[in-house]
Amino acid sequence: MKKAVFIAFAFLAIAVPVMAATTLDCMSCHGSTGAKYPVLGAKLGYEVSGHATLGDARYSNATGCQRCHTNEGYVEYVAKFGFSDPVKYDRWANSLNADGTPMVDKAGNAVPVPVVNYPSQPGCFTCHDPHTTGNFLLRSQVADAKNKITDKPVTLYNNEVYDGGSGNLCASCHMARGNIQKDTIALKGVLGARGSSHHGPEADMVAGTNGFEFAGKSYNSSSHGTVVGNTCVTCHMGQPNARYGFSPEVGGHAFTVVGDVHEVATGNLSNCLTCHKDVKTIAAKKYINTSFGNLKNTVYFTIKAKADYDGNGKVEFVQQEVQGLLDKLVNLKGNGAMQTMANPMFKADGTFLASKTTYPTEQLGAYANLLYVIEDKSLGVHNSTYAIELLMDSIQSIDPAFDVSKRP
Ligand code: HEC
Ligand code: HEC
Ligand code: HEC
Ligand code: HEC
Ligand code: HEC
Ligand code: HEC
Repeated sequence: MKKAVFIAFAFLAIAVPVMAATTLDCMSCHGSTGAKYPVLGAKLGYEVSGHATLGDARYSNATGCQRCHTNEGYVEYVAKFGFSDPVKYDRWANSLNADGTPMVDKAGNAVPVPVVNYPSQPGCFTCHDPHTTGNFLLRSQVADAKNKITDKPVTLYNNEVYDGGSGNLCASCHMARGNIQKDTIALKGVLGARGSSHHGPEADMVAGTNGFEFAGKSYNSSSHGTVVGNTCVTCHMGQPNARYGFSPEVGGHAFTVVGDVHEVATGNLSNCLTCHKDVKTIAAKKYINTSFGNLKNTVYFTIKAKADYDGNGKVEFVQQEVQGLLDKLVNLKGNGAMQTMANPMFKADGTFLASKTTYPTEQLGAYANLLYVIEDKSLGVHNSTYAIELLMDSIQSIDPAFDVSKRP
């Protein structure tokens, strides 16, 4: 009797995985005829995307970096931590206890930090799990029995929650790597080059949170975070709708809003036009050339600002106003507020100056906001109101004569 039960279980244990595997219809993705999903088309875009080409997976495969920079680290992060607590993840990834002390085993030896061997760049199986689910559901989504899809919200480092539809997937990696306000205060006046925004604080910016907010000021957001369904995915992954505009480098799985078409930076307007009837693009100069600048040609979207925020006498396109405000802090002519202040933070050529002075916390906050807006890389498109408010207050903290009467 006992033996029979054992055999039945043993049979099940073998049969279940085999059955699960054979329910996958390989041809729905790998068939050259009648494939249900555009796997090869997605791959064409993915291969030229920053996810595939920037190559930081190996370099950033250390404690805490692996969850955003490696396929393996992200899959582990999703399985072990959901999207709920980046601070807790960082502790785990650094083998630290809740109180910040190093974890030790029973014998008193330090617990080694978990590091991914053979890490790879984020790829198809980072965001999707097709060989398990049989479709392209995102790892940030759950589907119920009736195939109703729910997007899991994502907690940011300052404990605010990002909940922007399928864009939650993007937000789970494209977030600042710290609580900017708290981290700036903790510096106790000492200027550090890096700041907590890291290189992709877009989720925080879209949500209008986690800048260094000055005492006595109130902060607001533009509409994009609430009116654009699926947030990041809508603007970054919609495909260009004009045939001549097609390039795997724009939209779709290149994840870009601006990409090269015949070697010219081209903006994908298809996703903006649904709401901005007459929007066009004009070629734009490179971003600000500081040590942190993003040195590439891009375009400005032709949406006029509501006021002349940077005070140059003209009401320009929103992105030009934001660039103008950044230039007020640091620029290539050497006359930015952070270059001409007592104990400057930047050299005349726009590169960082490791000053030994201590600064008032507000001025370190201004520096943190400068990084935050530069690293966001949209020049205000993600959330112009929040970006402009942070920059205007930052300029004022260094140059009290700066006119903030037009502050949104
Ligand atoms: C829902 C879509 C989907 C289904 C169904 C599917 N695959 Fe895949 N498969 C993919 C994707 C996406 C890749 C990665 C493609 C790439 O990188 O080129 C992949 C890659 C592969 C690879 C390359 C190895 C690897 O891991 O990159 C093999 C082999 C493979 N699939 C076999 C199968 C077999 C066998 C089946 C049926 C049992 C199947 N697939 C069903 C989507 C699917
Ligand atoms: C919360 C997710 C996250 C974590 C954790 C993280 N990064 Fe990143 N990192 C990103 C994103 C997103 C980008 C890409 C931003 C972009 O290009 O817009 C990036 C970009 C970078 C770049 C490229 C910068 C450039 O402009 O070329 C480097 C280098 C880097 N990260 C290093 C690290 C290191 C080292 C660690 C760990 C100490 C780390 N990252 C941890 C999300 C993360
Ligand atoms: C950084 C995350 C990410 C990566 C990497 C990624 N995808 Fe996707 N993929 C998405 C998102 C988000 C969507 C949903 C897009 C939408 O709703 O328009 C999607 C949708 C898809 C779809 C469905 C498209 C449709 O028309 O229904 C396919 C097929 C697909 N991806 C294939 C792939 C393949 C193949 C790879 C690797 C070459 C890949 N993806 C890599 C995020 C990703
Ligand atoms: C697993 C974490 C992760 C997810 C999920 C993710 N990204 Fe990224 N993304 C990164 C990292 C890391 C980089 C930089 C890669 C490197 O430096 O090697 C990057 C780079 C990029 C870049 C290129 C930036 C540049 O400077 O060239 C864009 C655009 C981008 N991501 C948009 C998106 C969008 C849109 C989504 C959601 C559909 C998304 N990402 C989802 C981690 C992620
Ligand atoms: C309203 C549309 C819109 C939404 C929503 C949006 N973006 Fe963007 N994003 C843009 C535009 C426009 C740019 C500027 C592109 C350029 O000039 O190269 C940009 C720039 C970026 C860049 C820098 C790309 C590069 O090549 O340098 C990244 C990364 C990015 N966005 C990620 C995100 C993420 C993550 C989200 C969601 C949290 C998001 N975006 C939401 C429109 C949008
Ligand atoms: C779902 C609708 C929707 C989409 C899609 C959309 N926007 Fe917007 N956008 C808005 C709304 C609403 C406003 C607020 C208008 C106002 O306050 O006067 C806005 C404002 C803006 C602003 C000015 C910000 C401000 O605070 O005044 C810019 C710049 C902008 N959008 C650029 C873009 C670009 C570029 C795209 C495409 C990549 C895009 N938008 C896609 C709805 C959208």
